[in-house]
Amino acid sequence: MAFTLMDLPYSRDALEPHMSGNTLDYHYGKHHQTYVNKLNGLVEGSQYEGMSLEEVVRASAEAGDAGVFNNAAQVVNHDFLWHSLSPNGGGTPDGDLGAAIDAAFGSFDEFRTAFAAAAAGQFGSGWAWLVAEGNTLKIVTTGNADNPMLQGQTPLITLDVWEHAYYLDFQNDRPGYVQSFLDNLANWDFAAQNFAAA
Ligand code: FE2
Repeated sequence: MAFTLMDLPYSRDALEPHMSGNTLDYHYGKHHQTYVNKLNGLVEGSQYEGMSLEEVVRASAEAGDAGVFNNAAQVVNHDFLWHSLSPNGGGTPDGDLGAAIDAAFGSFDEFRTAFAAAAAGQFGSGWAWLVAEGNTLKIVTTGNADNPMLQGQTPLITLDVWEHAYYLDFQNDRPGYVQSFLDNLANWDFAAQNFAAA
């Protein structure tokens, strides 16, 4: 069965004024949709047909099949991204996740500073992540379509730092986009669910 574009968990203008409906129209409606369409074209009739999305990511990574991997991983990454954002996001996580962030980074403020530096410092296209690894948390960045699950890490929350994610709203101001994510959009409830399941 063909892969489909996930339904957004909110309306396309729900993240305004922090992320515009125009950005969602292009980023979700065109970029994400294109990854889904290209993936379906590549998988049809191939050895990947019938696999789950995650199985396609792992198998194509193993096979060094860059075309399939890039599109499959970008679908996984964007599915995860939309859940990582919320109209009621930002703020400070509490509970077990808040305690784990304090333990790993010293404080939530120190985490924010480190995440912002990592996201701004990722050269070129990629992703910034908070992940669980063993019994600690880490901030990692990945290039292009790569996903930390391939390193045995469990993604908790992510931010897309490809230019297509922010250029319409922030032009070249990636640090401003990252700051706005931390201040207004980061879905810590989603991250806490992922942490609880890790
Ligand atoms: Fe993207």
